[in-house]
Amino acid sequence: MSFAIIPRQIGRGPIRLRRLSIADMASLTDKLDGLSMSGKSYPALISYLLNWYWFKRNYPVAYCILLNDTLVGFIGISNFIPKEAGEISLIIFDEKMRHKGIGTAAFNLLKEDIQRRRLLKTIYARIEQGNPRGVKFWRNMGFFPDQGVQYLEQIDKKGRHQDGLQKKYPKPNETVRFVLRL
Ligand SMILES: CC(C)(COP(=O)(O)OP(=O)(O)OC[C@H]1O[C@@H](n2cnc3c(N)ncnc32)[C@H](O)[C@@H]1OP(=O)(O)O)[C@@H](O)C(=O)NCCC(=O)NCCS
Repeated sequence: MSFAIIPRQIGRGPIRLRRLSIADMASLTDKLDGLSMSGKSYPALISYLLNWYWFKRNYPVAYCILLNDTLVGFIGISNFIPKEAGEISLIIFDEKMRHKGIGTAAFNLLKEDIQRRRLLKTIYARIEQGNPRGVKFWRNMGFFPDQGVQYLEQIDKKGRHQDGLQKKYPKPNETVRFVLRL
């Protein structure tokens, strides 16, 4: 899927989503520490290009969250299966900008666009158990724990069905998957 079918902008109010572009890489690289997947440090221009390549590969749907034209966050969909399912990532960079309704507004803008254009039937959100704010946020957005998948992942990790059956609930540092059916 190409970025071309993704609208350039979603929303018209103070909170808007603007399609990610290569020009955003400088500010995103600063805001998302350790974004460069290689772990090595490169000259700035190379880092931006590598990060752009990484975003293009991983996030077919990728938006900057703008508040009054200032970049405050990122929202995107990875593991994108057109017309079926995708996994959402959302971050408001600055702690001081959180708890102002920006995350909720950004998610609703993207969700409405996805529904309007029937891009996906299911959205997943992967969250660490140790991130109660994230868990609460996605619950507020209508997501619920995808118990079936947790169970399957545990079976995969152990490679044995019996262990998966015994271990029903994730530990605090484990990742859980939440799901929203559109
Ligand atoms: C999770 C995250 C995206 C939420 O974004 P956010 O902009 O803070 O979300 P909102 O402001 O819409 O909602 C968060 C809380 O603020 C409250 N809130 C919303 N508007 C508010 C306002 N004007 N005044 C006071 N509180 C407000 C909401 O009711 C909600 O409260 P609750 O947690 O008690 O239910 C943000 O905390 C974040 O970037 N975290 C780090 C990354 C992360 O964990 N991402 C999720 C996993 S992908």
